[in-house]
Amino acid sequence: MKVIAFAFAIVLAVNAAEKNAASDKPKTYKRLIPADILRDFPGMCFASTKCTTVEVGQHWELAPFCGRSTCVKAEEDARLLELVEDCGPLPKANPKCKLSEKTNKTAAFPECCPVFDCEPGVKLEYPEIPVPEGEPKAKSAAKPKAKA
Ligand SMILES: *[C@@H]1O[C@H](CO)[C@@H](O)[C@H](O)[C@H]1NC(C)=O
Repeated sequence: MKVIAFAFAIVLAVNAAEKNAASDKPKTYKRLIPADILRDFPGMCFASTKCTTVEVGQHWELAPFCGRSTCVKAEEDARLLELVEDCGPLPKANPKCKLSEKTNKTAAFPECCPVFDCEPGVKLEYPEIPVPEGEPKAKSAAKPKAKA
């Protein structure tokens, strides 16, 4: 589970939890980590899950994990960063909710995120993720909008 370890071993974490109004919609989380860069390909991000280089502004799927990364350039110092988006933490276990058959793990992100069906009136609780202060800002890291 390299990507998981990698995802949690971050200093430059940004967590922009997109608050989806509809509860059956997959939640997604974003964070910035320093990009992998190959010596022979400066100015591009290295996508380890694809074993290829990616230009700034382009994104790639993190299959077999459910997620997507985008190569971005930091506003302050032009460092390359990787904006990682994934489904975030799983909700707290709730016997009144089950994984929906609508969940399609082979679909592209974010459609691969788990979808839960709950009994009427039951809401899943998600663990709080602390948002660290003073994270780097990236040009193409769009702030999540309240409503699309
Ligand atoms: C899951 O998603 C994949 C890729 O989009 C698609 O080919 C497949 O038909 C989907 N399966 C279901 C059960 O919806």
